[in-house]
Amino acid sequence: MNTPARRALERLAEAGTCPFAIDADAEGTRLRRDAPRIEFRHSFVAGPIARRARQSNQALLRACRDRKRTIASVLDLTAGWGADALVLANHGYRVDLVERDALLHAVVAHAIECLGADPDGAACAARMRCHHADSRDFLESLAPARRFDCIYLDPMFPPHKSGARPGKEMQLLQQLTANAGLEACFELALQRARNRVVVKRPAKAPALTAREPDIVYREKTIRFDVYLTA
Ligand SMILES: C[S@@+](CC[C@H](N)C(=O)[O-])C[C@H]1O[C@@H](n2cnc3c(N)ncnc32)[C@H](O)[C@@H]1O
Repeated sequence: MNTPARRALERLAEAGTCPFAIDADAEGTRLRRDAPRIEFRHSFVAGPIARRARQSNQALLRACRDRKRTIASVLDLTAGWGADALVLANHGYRVDLVERDALLHAVVAHAIECLGADPDGAACAARMRCHHADSRDFLESLAPARRFDCIYLDPMFPPHKSGARPGKEMQLLQQLTANAGLEACFELALQRARNRVVVKRPAKAPALTAREPDIVYREKTIRFDVYLTA
């Protein structure tokens, strides 16, 4: 499969600017570094991200659902590895993902292409579109009347006070990227969301801005703050 996203990954690998060795294949991408050793396999076809996407009892799904009105389109302003977006697309939502980091964008775009080539995943992949952009620029470039039913933000969490090391996925994200202007994106999102803005937060962290959420859905270590716009 010689697709645009795979070629982008190969160019990033050749440029030598990434701290990881990058290997793309027909299922996804492997990122590897020898010292300190870390290896991460990213795929929407198989493995933990794909398995989690099939689980229906998730607070993320409850937070993005409205019992009275249909929510069909979601704009994910912090795509990261695309794991949350895959949960939503797998449950029928049309998801636009925005990611500013070139490597993460290429990894996710390649994962969507691999999923599209899988007969069991093609319909889900067709509901996902990944944009390489800063979210604020993306929101500001939209036509004035353009709206999404739900807009989702998952800012990087600050390091845990206990010093506990986060999972491999999150360790890599912390090494590769950072939050950039997401409070301003949140304010713009409130103007562009037809039904709600959903923000993932650590369970005990304050809200993203001074505005308090209308509804909160909790899991053990995280919560989803919901801001109704309709
Ligand atoms: C915690 S991660 C999101 C993880 C994601 N929800 C997942 O399921 O994999 C946050 C991501 O937001 C991205 N990000 C932060 N600020 C951004 C901005 N202004 N525009 C676009 N992406 C941004 C970071 O590069 C990072 O990949």
